[in-house]
Amino acid sequence: MHQQLQRFRMEERNKTLGEFIIENQNAFQYSSGELSRIINSIRLAAKVVNYKVNKAGLVDIVGAAGEQNIQGEDQQKLDVYANEVFIQTLINREIVCGIASEENDDFITVAGGDNSHSNKYVVLMDPLDGSSNIDVNVSVGTIFSVFRRVTPIGTPVTIQDFLQPGTQQVAAGYVIYGTSTMLVYTTGHGVNGFTLNPAIGTFYLSHPNMKYPKDGTIYSINEGNYVHFPQGVKDYIKYCQLEEGNRPYTSRYIGSLVSDMHRNMIKGGIYIYPTSSKAPKGKLRLLYECNPMAFIAEQAGGKASNGYRRIMEIQPTELHQRVPFFCGSYNMVQKAESFMEAAK
Ligand code: AHG
Ligand code: MN
Ligand code: MN
Repeated sequence: MHQQLQRFRMEERNKTLGEFIIENQNAFQYSSGELSRIINSIRLAAKVVNYKVNKAGLVDIVGAAGEQNIQGEDQQKLDVYANEVFIQTLINREIVCGIASEENDDFITVAGGDNSHSNKYVVLMDPLDGSSNIDVNVSVGTIFSVFRRVTPIGTPVTIQDFLQPGTQQVAAGYVIYGTSTMLVYTTGHGVNGFTLNPAIGTFYLSHPNMKYPKDGTIYSINEGNYVHFPQGVKDYIKYCQLEEGNRPYTSRYIGSLVSDMHRNMIKGGIYIYPTSSKAPKGKLRLLYECNPMAFIAEQAGGKASNGYRRIMEIQPTELHQRVPFFCGSYNMVQKAESFMEAAK
């Protein structure tokens, strides 16, 4: 009992996500509170999905739903569920004018109850990242990205509102459903991480102002594909494995981008999903995975690139576009880029 009381007092000293959102709303010039309401909705949807993810082994929700998504991958039931929860939460609150999801072929237009199309923001998301890990009780996540629309308010959104370079993001974040559940996000003023106390359903600010160590000793890549990698990546992997200074580095690969990225941001490391002869454009999606992670990485002092140039400066040409992805501690990504350049 005494211990419980002590823990309660400790948590009460930490800010809740709700309090943090209200305090920071004023930091935005001309803020109408719309962005705060979006983050609030994501917070709510994350709690709902978290509840379901935690029960994944108990109920008949594991396994493929028997459908494939647009990329031809098996959809897991929880992908479908998480997609529904995030979309419905955003639509019901009438706070966005459009949503694009990795799980939907096309973007969704949100008209608003009065059919006014008067909201300013669009949300792009990967509702369940690392979905192949659900059946084996390994951490999964949600990734989201928020843009201001470029077409006039009052008209339905168009594809142009979604095909914006990552530099235009106004917010991005991820939820990690891990040993504990966390929501990590940025609105361009640094990165903050909040941990969920599942007993009372409240996120607490546990990781204020998250920063990548400038250097790290972890590299995360699916090395099973080694023979298919471009020469620059092969050379960089060999560099990571060389006995010299603080090398060889440690290899860590979970297979959930969110989890690999989260660990590397805390400990220092690099995540790479390159092109390969099997996936000539890479695997990860620019709009749902790479842009939001790049925004977080840069805000945390890290770096995100396609091997040659900044991810956030790439002009997207299609919703489900894939790109090679190098993301992590600044110096490590820079080093990997130098190997790519040398092997050109
Ligand atoms: P998703 O579950 O949304 O399809 O994403 C899976 C992604 C990413 O999270 C992960 O890092 C990568 O795919 C793993 O791919 P490989 O199994 O090819 O290594
Ligand atoms: Mn994903
Ligand atoms: Mn996914």
